[in-house]
Amino acid sequence: MNVLGIDIGGSGIKGAPVDTKAGELLEDRLRIPTPEPSSPDAVAHVVASIVEHFGWKGRVGVTFPGVVADGVIRSAANVDRSWIGVDAAGLFGGATVLNDADAAGLAEMRFGEGRDRRGVVLVLTFGTGIGSALFVDGVLVPNTELGHLEVHGKDAEHRASARAREEHDLSWEKWAGRVQEYLRHVEMLFSPSLIVIGGGVSKKADKFLPHVRLDTPVVPAGLQNEAGIIGAAHAAATPAKTPGRTRAAGGAKPAGRQKAAGRT
Ligand code: BGC
Repeated sequence: MNVLGIDIGGSGIKGAPVDTKAGELLEDRLRIPTPEPSSPDAVAHVVASIVEHFGWKGRVGVTFPGVVADGVIRSAANVDRSWIGVDAAGLFGGATVLNDADAAGLAEMRFGEGRDRRGVVLVLTFGTGIGSALFVDGVLVPNTELGHLEVHGKDAEHRASARAREEHDLSWEKWAGRVQEYLRHVEMLFSPSLIVIGGGVSKKADKFLPHVRLDTPVVPAGLQNEAGIIGAAHAAATPAKTPGRTRAAGGAKPAGRQKAAGRT
């Protein structure tokens, strides 16, 4: 099934049609900077313009960088706080909506590094924040939010996200030290058999992973930064199999924007 996948991030909103059987993009992705403020209306407008750009009439899967329960947003660490309590699935016209890291994780488990892996696997995304997706024998435990574990009395993502590296102007090696410290903490808590590193930095894994020493194997995401789009589409194609916080979708038609989305 072909599904439009849209990945809402703290700095960009990216979308592309996805062949959910193959786990591949069917066209080049479109990226639009996340509006500021990233209010629900402004973001819904961007989502509608991505739907319109691809002339999409079918199912849509959307990721969100916060806790999503039954399509409703429950946290918003890196986007406008007014999202909390918003029915995002409704706002996006019945799209399947799920946490961004959970989406990336689902894609990695199906098509990437986690394929056929049993046991406890953790997919961690390093971007504006740190996202986490925890799998047990291939089944997702949704909304784990491990980026907010405390390390040295601070929210881990404030020390070790990709944004923290840029903001504090850290060398790759110095940042790798912070990532290692964080991963060791996670390793101690969950004893995973594999850790997959996703997000924008997965493309630059050779710059920092050689400096990260852990007992657990750590690998860069096979799908790199496209995992969110592919995972969103995959979740919308198989809503019943995505635990916790998705809703079965018909087509997506952002509310009040039927025209903009090219629908009648
Ligand atoms: C949010 C998570 C999200 C992660 C990556 C964190 O700040 O709380 O829900 O998955 O950032 O975007």
